[in-house]
Amino acid sequence: MKPSSSDERAFTIRTVTGDDLPAVAALDERISGIAKPDYWQDVFERYGGRRKGRYFLMAEDQNKKLLGYIMGEVRAWEFDSPPCGWIFGINVDSDTRLGGIGTALYLAICDGFRKFGVHTVRTTVSRKNELVMSFFRSQGMMASHYIQLETELES
Ligand SMILES: CC(C)(COP(=O)(O)OP(=O)(O)OC[C@H]1O[C@@H](n2cnc3c(N)ncnc32)[C@H](O)[C@@H]1OP(=O)(O)O)[C@@H](O)C(=O)NCCC(=O)NCCS
Repeated sequence: MKPSSSDERAFTIRTVTGDDLPAVAALDERISGIAKPDYWQDVFERYGGRRKGRYFLMAEDQNKKLLGYIMGEVRAWEFDSPPCGWIFGINVDSDTRLGGIGTALYLAICDGFRKFGVHTVRTTVSRKNELVMSFFRSQGMMASHYIQLETELES
């Protein structure tokens, strides 16, 4: 993946490796307040390394400190949708936000999606998460003609 940098603070974007997993899980736990070791192991097994159309990318500073990560994949023909890029997770360390790292991660994963001929990028955002909503809107994303439906399952 092409390196990215900002004037204020140089950083690099690269694929997450197994060695990075504890730092990624710790960053998520700091932000979400929930430890999810099994989830992160599963994400790494499915998306880590160089897998066709699957991306688990991170930004790190010059001291190799994790600054943020993004995950996504190319999905095809779900509910008749032609192949599109799906982003299903992004987090940037609170100390380094508003420095262009989220944007660099987003652009890097979009570069990956383009290699598969994809023209559309999708994600799901909680209506309560105005921060993430503002971020994705700043990338040009808008509500699409797909909507999510859900129900509570009776036990
Ligand atoms: C959303 C997030 C990834 C943005 O990362 P970032 O590195 O700060 O993003 P950038 O610096 O590239 O910002 C890009 C644009 O996003 C928007 N944005 C970012 N932070 C914002 C804020 N606090 N308020 C309003 N808009 C904001 C702005 O339009 C910004 O552009 P600008 O700086 O020119 O105004 C980061 O805030 C984050 O990790 N938040 C928590 C994510 C989360 O809840 N993840 C769990 C669900 S996936």
